[in-house]
Amino acid sequence: MPTGIERAFPPKFVWGAATAAYQIEGAIDTDGRTPSIWDTFSHTPGRVRSDDNGDIACDHYNRYLEDVALMRDLGLDSYRFSLSWPRITPQVDANALGPVNQKGIDFYSRLVDALLDAGIDPVITLYHWDLPQALEDAGGWPSRTTAERFGEYAAVAAEHLGDRVATFVTLNEPWCSAYLGYASGVHAPGRTDPAAALAAVHHLNLAHGLAVQAIRQQAPTAKVGVTLNLASVRPQTLLDRDTAAARRVDGLQNRVFLDPMLDGHYPDDIIDETGSVTDWSFVRDGDLDAICQPLDTIGVNYYSPTVVRGYDGDGPREESDGHGDGAASAWPASDDIEFPRQPGPYTVMGWSIDPRGLTELLLRVHRQAPGVDLLVTENGAAFDDLVDGEGRVDDPMRVEYLSRHIAAVGDAIEAGAPVRGYFVWSLLDNFEWAYGYTKRFGIVYVDYASQRRVPKTSARWYSDLIARQVRRR
Ligand code: NOJ
Repeated sequence: MPTGIERAFPPKFVWGAATAAYQIEGAIDTDGRTPSIWDTFSHTPGRVRSDDNGDIACDHYNRYLEDVALMRDLGLDSYRFSLSWPRITPQVDANALGPVNQKGIDFYSRLVDALLDAGIDPVITLYHWDLPQALEDAGGWPSRTTAERFGEYAAVAAEHLGDRVATFVTLNEPWCSAYLGYASGVHAPGRTDPAAALAAVHHLNLAHGLAVQAIRQQAPTAKVGVTLNLASVRPQTLLDRDTAAARRVDGLQNRVFLDPMLDGHYPDDIIDETGSVTDWSFVRDGDLDAICQPLDTIGVNYYSPTVVRGYDGDGPREESDGHGDGAASAWPASDDIEFPRQPGPYTVMGWSIDPRGLTELLLRVHRQAPGVDLLVTENGAAFDDLVDGEGRVDDPMRVEYLSRHIAAVGDAIEAGAPVRGYFVWSLLDNFEWAYGYTKRFGIVYVDYASQRRVPKTSARWYSDLIARQVRRR
């Protein structure tokens, strides 16, 4: 029986690619859009490499038809993209959502129709980090009103697009929104306040729960889920100090989202251990019931495993890049953990390549949520891609990375995890947050000066893989 990627995936398995609004759209003040926290952050000198910003990005707002045609040529089953909240309700503030911006809705409506015409199933992420700036000015995610407005915004999105969109994802990687946005400050809005980060965790969870309820009401047949960057955590050794550190990371990255969403409570150990930072009084009666909503799918984003060591206070703490911008300062109340650098190979993010972590992670989530379908909503790698003399971009390392990770998904399915689809990050090279345009994750190269798209070898390879799988259906 074939193994690796040549085995037969389930007939309904979905092959896709993913992007996010701020990373590709550009057109930041077109058709009524107002600023998000990423506009403000990227325009603040020193925050993003080379002071890059998303003003133009991949100009996808104007080139979406070309991009859909590209996806059709590749034979994708599905495309995961996010809505820019400040296009949909540009006048939102702490007290009210404000009027719906028809031009913003129309853009996404045209995109959805173009995808459906091309036989590509849209998967919509409602929040991929571009909070309307007015809401940050009123307190941002540490403030409860942000969650309340998010529930209302989700209702608007589902009302206008839910007739044609089968799957909605509430939040993308709330860990990043909370910890990188409010604790380490390497992402927008760039605050460094661990108590605010934990309040943000809770209000993101609440926002998720309110959004699930709103979508169910407006689009009862849609499938609803959330995308989490869960960690595949391993202690460096079996010493107590390392296993305790690994448990803390599992708590602050995995359980603090999964437990309330799936089981309706926060992990006691995490509440205790963060006691020096916050008393969690922002959790009000009824919140956990609101957060714990039945889910159709959990989206897992995976790039690299997380190896944790207990820090003994000797010498500087090790903060390998290997953990998603994870300077240890992102972790509230955790001066005793460190992330030792792992043996290679690495991607150019400095992230170690270890597909086994993806299998482990899918099985870990399946154990906690046995009845819920899983999607790999992101997986991919940045390498230093170059256009050769013949205008081609050959990226054998990305082909190898994707192929081994897709095989790891196959292993998880064989071991019993109900994984229903796989989305490459990313369709296009794009604005890689604090790294600006220096990191290329696309299977399609973007020449930012001309906006020319050049499918890399990995795009052709992925397309052939999909075609072979489709023939087996
Ligand atoms: C996860 C995020 O969702 C996405 O926006 C980002 O570009 C990739 N990771 C790569 O870092």
